[in-house]
Amino acid sequence: MLEGLKGNKKVVMLTAYDYQVARLLEQAGVDLILVGDSLGMVVLGYESTKQVTMQEMLHHTRAVSRGARNTPIIGDMPIGSYATPELALENARKFIEAGAIGVKVEGCVKEVIHELISNKIPVMGHLGLLPQTAEKYKLVGKLDNEAEKIFEDAQAIDKLGVFSMVLECMPEQLAKKITENVKSITIGIGAGKYCDGQVLVINDLLGMDERFKPKYVKKYADMSEIIKKAAMEFKKEVESGEFPDDAHSFH
Ligand code: KIV
Repeated sequence: MLEGLKGNKKVVMLTAYDYQVARLLEQAGVDLILVGDSLGMVVLGYESTKQVTMQEMLHHTRAVSRGARNTPIIGDMPIGSYATPELALENARKFIEAGAIGVKVEGCVKEVIHELISNKIPVMGHLGLLPQTAEKYKLVGKLDNEAEKIFEDAQAIDKLGVFSMVLECMPEQLAKKITENVKSITIGIGAGKYCDGQVLVINDLLGMDERFKPKYVKKYADMSEIIKKAAMEFKKEVESGEFPDDAHSFH
């Protein structure tokens, strides 16, 4: 998957969790859609991604696959769903049935990755900040030993055959070194400009939550203001009797 793109074209991935957004992302021409377990925080209102279940992930993967029939969809395996290689395979197959073409797993889980790839399930890795196990969401890989471990992990999962890996919240020089030393496509989030591609959580890119302002997120729209303004205008017009007017009524 994504053959020929490394070094030739930047890969564009965005998350989606529902039918309508998936449809729009397909029209926009993104290369990949990730049904991320960020679902838990931005859609379901959980404290972290740790509460997300397989059932919830599959429900949203099905919705996304109905909206984006021609864009590769990656299912993000939630915490616990790949605790053993056997469980990982069973759950990865459920993602494929739900419409994903591959799955993403966090960390250097070599046996899991090996099991999935030997059973022909394309795997995207995820290194650096690992939201499923991190105590704090912060930059990682600044210390030499931390950077060395992430680099070794990247080489190990690359060797196992991941087609791509997300690099999250790390210094751009570390992401550059990894990108230059692996065959797979690196997709950065808070990992700088040298990655082979970039991903953002769609709700962050759209500015859905005015309280969330991490350094690595660029807001391409201010949807929290747009939605609030539209709802307030509707409220005002309903309360004043201005809506529905003749144009929006049946006669
Ligand atoms: O869950 C998610 O949305 C992710 C991306 C941040 C890569 O893992």
